[in-house]
Amino acid sequence: MAEKRIYLTTPIYYVNALPHIGHAYTTIVCDVVRRYYRLLGYDTYFLTGTDEHGTKIMQAAERQGETPKQYADRMSQAFRDLWPRLSIEPSDFIRTTEPRHETVVRRILQDLHDRGEIYFEKYGGLYCVGCERFYTETELAATGGYCPDHQTKPTWIEEQNYFFRMSNYQKWLVEHIRANPDFIRPERYRNEILSFLAEPLRDLCISRPASRLPWGIPLPFDENYVTYVWFDALVNYVSALGWPDGEKFARYWPVAEHYIAKDILKPHAVYWPTMLKAAGLAPYRHLNVHGYWNYGELKMSKSLGNVASPLDLAHIYGVDALRYFLLREMVFGLDAAFDEQAFNDRYNSNLADDLGNLLSRLTAMIQRYCDGRVPPGRALERGDQALLTLIEAVVRSAPQWLADLKFHQIIEETLQAVRSLNRYVTGQEPWALMKAGKRERVETVLHVASRGAVIALQLLAPVMPAKTAEALSWFGLEMSGGGIDTQLLKVGAPVVAGNVLFPKIRLGQTEEAGQAAGPSPAKASIQSPKSKIQNETKGTPMPETGEVTFEEFAKMDLRVARVVEAYAVEGATKLVRLIIDLGAEKRQIVAGIAQQYKPEQLVGMSIVVVANLAPRKLRGFESKGMLLAAHDGEALRLITTDANCAPGSKVS
Ligand code: MSP
Repeated sequence: MAEKRIYLTTPIYYVNALPHIGHAYTTIVCDVVRRYYRLLGYDTYFLTGTDEHGTKIMQAAERQGETPKQYADRMSQAFRDLWPRLSIEPSDFIRTTEPRHETVVRRILQDLHDRGEIYFEKYGGLYCVGCERFYTETELAATGGYCPDHQTKPTWIEEQNYFFRMSNYQKWLVEHIRANPDFIRPERYRNEILSFLAEPLRDLCISRPASRLPWGIPLPFDENYVTYVWFDALVNYVSALGWPDGEKFARYWPVAEHYIAKDILKPHAVYWPTMLKAAGLAPYRHLNVHGYWNYGELKMSKSLGNVASPLDLAHIYGVDALRYFLLREMVFGLDAAFDEQAFNDRYNSNLADDLGNLLSRLTAMIQRYCDGRVPPGRALERGDQALLTLIEAVVRSAPQWLADLKFHQIIEETLQAVRSLNRYVTGQEPWALMKAGKRERVETVLHVASRGAVIALQLLAPVMPAKTAEALSWFGLEMSGGGIDTQLLKVGAPVVAGNVLFPKIRLGQTEEAGQAAGPSPAKASIQSPKSKIQNETKGTPMPETGEVTFEEFAKMDLRVARVVEAYAVEGATKLVRLIIDLGAEKRQIVAGIAQQYKPEQLVGMSIVVVANLAPRKLRGFESKGMLLAAHDGEALRLITTDANCAPGSKVS
């Protein structure tokens, strides 16, 4: 590859669900990859966005009592707002409802139609609304007729539709995949597609009757039909670049790399390259396919209801630790289990004990033994040199691991080096050397270990941008952007004794911290004010525990929330289950107000909740927060705000 340029894309996410760990993973991977390439001097472009047409979105909007556009605007915004909060910095965010996208879809369709690549025909098939696609009986055979992703039975649909002559490009596609072994990677997914392509490929149905599905891009040559969502969505990768004659298109399309999970392999590995070929465009360079984050037995998915909220986890452990865990735990291409125990273990061992400990020891010893300045490394012994060689080898190998999608390896090898540095400091015993009057040797040891630590921080910077920048600043350093500099440490620079970079977190604590408002794990235990309020809403008198300080009160995260859904809880006469909108996220809470309020009265109300209360299970439902109400004898009145108050607004 001659040019140092790369174009990275995530899937554009459906807006019928709020972002979860699965979406966050792909988007964080692209952000990390982008930051590594930027470090290596590449010109990078990183696209993400939302996929907003189709039956699923239309139905979800109806359930919320909104128009599809209102609904899509609101939900798309949740994705757009979340990414910066996870330190993700896309170059652009595309929505399929934007005119810049719709124009390109229609133009490509018209062109294909004009050239006879699209024809009209009657069609019948088994259709899964969740996947927005037809399934063949063979595909469903293994799952007993159920959609493998949604565990629902696809329904038989028959209609006249437009078809793209995809089968004409089967031979070309097979040859292209064979000639370019890393076109689809890792290899297992390439093999999966090649074996799929060993059978005859059918043409692709690219329309849906507008009478059945009005929410889509009308076909330019027949307004009675809208474009099939996948045909619409895939085009985002070029519409965002301003195809056909945008400057960005010329610059970045030749270096396109798509990142997806295996759920959407076929549209990306079969539909998209054949669409590109038919439209006269070059194929993308790589399709990088990762596995699923599983939660228990099943893939994490909104429709299955087993999702982890990225922000909750970021609140507990910090954004950088979340990014670290996701990148370290998953071997790109394979499935991984999302398990908070594993997260907690990695956090405490890799980040608190290995990296954090190394940095606090070094900065504290430099304070104590070297007058708070980076000491010189005068006479390096063989062991000192070997240690630096070890970490420099990681720097040399990192670009290849990056190219091979071995992100976990970059991290693991760096952590191995960090562990070696810790062992080195322990083994050299600077405190004993100091006592023995060997000051020069103390300086050399601390110099070598700091140099290694500063290299490790640079290697981890794309994964943990904020924490590594903070730690580098303790040595008076910042990264220049000109690559990893093994000589970045500056002798004589003032060093501050760093804070604890990653405070230890016990798993038990995190259940409470899950509701904490701030990003800091220090909010992990917020005991007393919370239990008082809990008692009060149970109807018991406020215990006479005396005054609370302002600091105690300030720990309470009171927020305005809009009730978006409300349900009776079967078998519980007092409980109502609410889905509330807190601005950045939606949550479920369970409240004992069924005797005063009917579910339908509650929807749309703007209430006040304690957002950082430890979750509780009530009748099997998790309640993440508590609403506030006034208790007037037997009567109970919800504390509300007027409807103009935005969900998520802080109450103080
Ligand atoms: N809108 C389509 C994609 C169109 S791209 C032209 C779509 N959207 S989606 O919201 O369902 O997102 C699917 C993608 O989200 C996956 O390919 C993956 O990137 C991410 N993930 C969603 N759940 C996931 C897991 N449980 N595990 C890993 N990644 C997952 O499909």
